This record gives sequence, structure tokens and C-alpha cells, in this order.
Amino acid sequence: MKKLNIALIGYRFMGKAHSNAWRQVSHFFDTPFEPAMKVICGRNEQEVQRAAHNYGWEEYATSWEEVVARKDIDVIDICTPGDSHMPVAIAAAEAKKVVFCEKPLANTLTQAEAMLDAVQTNRVTHMLCHNYRRVPAVALAKQIIEEGQLGQIYHYRGTYLQDWLVSPDFPRVWRLEKVRAGSGALGDLVSHSVDLARYLVGEITEVSGLLKTFITERPLEKGSRTMAPVDVDDAALLLVKFGNGAVGTIEGTRFAAGRKNHNRFEINGSKGSLVFDLERMNELELYLEEGPNSGFRKILVTDPTHPYVSGWWPRGHIIGYEHTFTHTVLDLLKAIDEQAIPAPNFEDGVRNQRVLDALERASGSQRWERV
Ligand SMILES: NC(=O)c1ccc[n+]([C@@H]2O[C@H](COP(=O)([O-])OP(=O)(O)OC[C@H]3O[C@@H](n4cnc5c(N)ncnc54)[C@H](O)[C@@H]3O)[C@@H](O)[C@H]2O)c1
Repeated sequence: MKKLNIALIGYRFMGKAHSNAWRQVSHFFDTPFEPAMKVICGRNEQEVQRAAHNYGWEEYATSWEEVVARKDIDVIDICTPGDSHMPVAIAAAEAKKVVFCEKPLANTLTQAEAMLDAVQTNRVTHMLCHNYRRVPAVALAKQIIEEGQLGQIYHYRGTYLQDWLVSPDFPRVWRLEKVRAGSGALGDLVSHSVDLARYLVGEITEVSGLLKTFITERPLEKGSRTMAPVDVDDAALLLVKFGNGAVGTIEGTRFAAGRKNHNRFEINGSKGSLVFDLERMNELELYLEEGPNSGFRKILVTDPTHPYVSGWWPRGHIIGYEHTFTHTVLDLLKAIDEQAIPAPNFEDGVRNQRVLDALERASGSQRWERV
């Protein structure tokens, strides 16, 4: 099989998830290329060396600039905080690499547009990692909607709730710094819900809502008495209008005590409804208006006919969070082979960022803002 040499930048949460995906994909699916896990990059030599060993990379490096400049690398996989997405992605595009980037695409709309321009000008393949599109139950929801089973879509109700910031003692990590993360719950959580809304319902054209920061300073580090400002939102609430006439609400927060990774949506149409909850990710609830005794039924999305499932286990043998990344890199490999641009890509990232940008404006103006 043809080999494709991968370089991954960033070795913590997403670095680990993407490493696992690159390692598994050609063991479970027929892939057009065998990904070779060439080099993982991070700034702390000791830690990146350990990550290379644990995750199965051939080499480690401490300079992303040197990695991007390497002739033998085909794909640059960006798993760093938002402040480095733009420089790495633009350099990678200019070096004619395939660019695979974690969400949100960038910290600002201007940065996102520059990244899109770079991949288009250099005619390289690009993909954005909104991995939840590739939960089998979500991909099945997409099929059901496209088949017209729900009829005309009226409502999208997306919530992405976590609770890891409820304690005021939690330190001011990079996700709480605007200069590093761009925004708070907005870019981190709402961007996923916006991606699912765009994927399943359509383009969002107008936004109103608010951003709220509940705790405005936190310990600089764990246990530290030195306080540091929090300049991003803790919660983001949106009312949205879609171009096709549907309306929606989207809520993202890290202050929903008890909610760990509650990424849920409900879609209501003229003929039925769908409900998905990531914490029960192998299930999809479907309601179809079928007469007096119709009600919600739960589909266990583990049949070999369901999207992506045939690569894994016999029916009923559930899969988990990490599989969504394997499905994402599978589709990236297929797109590279077909010389196609997979979705979501940097164009989706820009459109997503426009929605986030409109909410930031709406939160200030307290009015509806056009996307
Ligand atoms: N798709 C998802 O569901 C999902 C989930 C979590 C995070 N993310 C996204 O993934 C990205 C990374 O988040 P994370 O949770 O993995 O963060 P993290 O803090 O766990 O890891 C970030 C990594 O980037 C490295 N890094 C930071 N700046 C760097 C630089 N200039 N050069 C090289 N390495 C650098 C850090 O050393 C660390 O290894 C963010 O964009 C985040 O929004 C996506």
C-alpha cells in the first residue's frame, strides 16, 4: 500500500486522540494509504519524547517550523491551541502539505479567512476536525434528514454543556486566555454545535444572544495565590435563524454542574424529530408522526449498515469517543486519494467562525446581527 507520512503538532488531549486515529485507521478500514506516523512535535523535549514513545511515533521534534519544512512529510495535523493554528496552517499550505486542523479553525474570523486563502492559493487538501459529524448516530441523523423523513425542519436545539470551570479554584489555563484561545465556551463548545447545525439543518444567517463570564479572575496556576484575569466567555447563548426558515437555540457553557460532556441536539420537523446525546453516543432517538400510537423510538446505531460501523465490531458492540477521530482521518485519506476536498474543511471553518463572530457582535449590540 502507498504510504503517507504524517506529522502531528501538539501532544496532549487532541494529540493523543489523533495519534490513536492514525494508528488504528488502516487496521480497521480499507484505506487508500497506510499512514506512517513519522514525527510528533511539541515544545517540551522530555514530554514530547515520552508522547512519541507512548503513542507510537517514529520521531519527535521541538520546532514545528522544522517539521513543516521537511520534504518527507505529506500531512501536517495541527493539535495545538488556537493561537498557533494560523501560522502552522499557512506555513504547511505554502510547503504544499495536506493540512488537517483542530477546531475552531482560528481565534478570529480574519485569521480563519487568511488560512482559507492559503490552502486555496496553494491548492492543498484541507480538513477541519469537527469529529462529531462522524459519530455513526450523527451520520445516520444526516441520512434520515436528507431522505426527507423529518419533512420540513422547523427547530434546531443544540446544547453543549460541561462543568469543569464551576470551582473558582480552577486555574487560569490557556482556554481562559483570549490571546491563546480566541474565546471561551463559544469557540470551544458552541463551534461544535454550530458545525452540527450547519451540517444537519443548513446555513445560519442571523444571530442574537449573549456571552457571559461568571468568574473574572482565577489562580495563575493550580494552588497559586497569584490571580490572573479571565477574558473569555464562560457561557454563550445563541438564538439563530437559518436561511431555510428554521430557527434554533444553541447554548454552550462550562458552568453546568453535573454535565460532563453533554453535547446534545434535538431537531423537529413537520413529520418527526431526532434527538442525539453524545453521552449516549451509540443511540439515536427518532420520532415519526405515524398515527395515534407513534412515539420516540431508540435506534441502537451499531448495525453493519450504519455509517462507519462495519469497520468495527458485530452489531450491538458499542464504540466510543476515540472512534470519531478514526472515522475523520479515514475520510481525509479517501479525499486525498480522490483529490477531493473533504468536509468539514477550512471553508466550513470560516463559515462557522462567521457565526461565532456574529454572536460576539450581538452580545455587544444586544441586537440581531447578520452572519
Ligand atoms: N475535536 C474536539 O472534540 C476537540 C476536543 C478538545 C480540543 N480540541 C481542540 O484541539 C486543539 C488543542 O486542544 P487540546 O485540548 O489538545 O489542548 P492541550 O492543552 O491538551 O494540548 C495542546 C498541545 O499543544 C502544544 N502546543 C501549544 N503551543 C504550541 C506551539 N506553539 N508549538 C508546538 N506545540 C504547541 C502543547 O504543548 C500541547 O501538547 C484546540 O484547538 C482545541 O480547541 C478539539
